[in-house]
Amino acid sequence: MRTEQEKELKFISTGNDELDKKMGGGIPLRTLTLVEGQPDSGKSVLTQQMVWGSLNNGCTAVIITTENTAKSLVTQMQSLNLDITDYLLLSRLSIYPIDIKKTRQSLSAGIVPLLIGCAHKGVDLAVIDSLTYYLTHATIEEVLSFFEECKILTDRGMSILCVAHSYAFTEEDIVRLGSMCDAHLRLRIETMGSKMVKILEVAKVRGAKLTTGNIVSFDVEPYLGIRVIPYSKAKA
Ligand SMILES: Nc1ncnc2c1ncn2[C@@H]1O[C@H](COP(=O)(O)OP(=O)(O)OP(=O)(O)O)[C@@H](O)[C@H]1O
Ligand SMILES: [Mg+2]
Repeated sequence: MRTEQEKELKFISTGNDELDKKMGGGIPLRTLTLVEGQPDSGKSVLTQQMVWGSLNNGCTAVIITTENTAKSLVTQMQSLNLDITDYLLLSRLSIYPIDIKKTRQSLSAGIVPLLIGCAHKGVDLAVIDSLTYYLTHATIEEVLSFFEECKILTDRGMSILCVAHSYAFTEEDIVRLGSMCDAHLRLRIETMGSKMVKILEVAKVRGAKLTTGNIVSFDVEPYLGIRVIPYSKAKA
């Protein structure tokens, strides 16, 4: 739980000013965000930075991960200079690893109870990285109902970041789900000349005045994290 002063906070910051600016200041608190993209496009790094930004701003957070053990996630975040060990010790952050090879649960049986538990505990930010396994084993009705459940929890005060691979959806589903979410971030990798560049497209952020230029190209650097590259330079 945050203090009264910290409750004045309005945004989840990525810790990177340029990136936050592109999102109209950052992702507003108490909202549902969809982060989708192709493999290796930076979904995890981006959300790890958002968790870090939130923890530093006094929020409590939970990471539900299908990609890491608690230990490997700590190491991964340390490699970006995001040392979460103190936050774990202080119980300001919890990690729930899910082994999808062993878990055969649906979205409603596997993820929803975890999120409800987080909301009961007053957790400020919950990240699910990733939902891909669950989405590829669910009908669109189940997915829509999951996003509706998430909306109820965000209305009660928790922020939720849902991460998924784009291949888990049809383009039609993405449009539908993107419209249900308060924010929608799309990541991809593009080849520019001889370089591979990661691209973040801010498709939607509720309340932010987005213009057509809301595309950021970036790289991930050891112990630095996301480094924005000017789009013109990336293209050169
Ligand atoms: N500490 C680091 N130093 C340098 N590069 C890093 C570091 N951590 C991650 N990366 C790189 O950043 C890129 C994006 O990684 P990330 O794990 O965020 O992608 P992702 O979209 O989550 O991929 P996946 O679909 O596999 O989950 C990868 O190329 C990865 O190797
Ligand atoms: Mg990932």
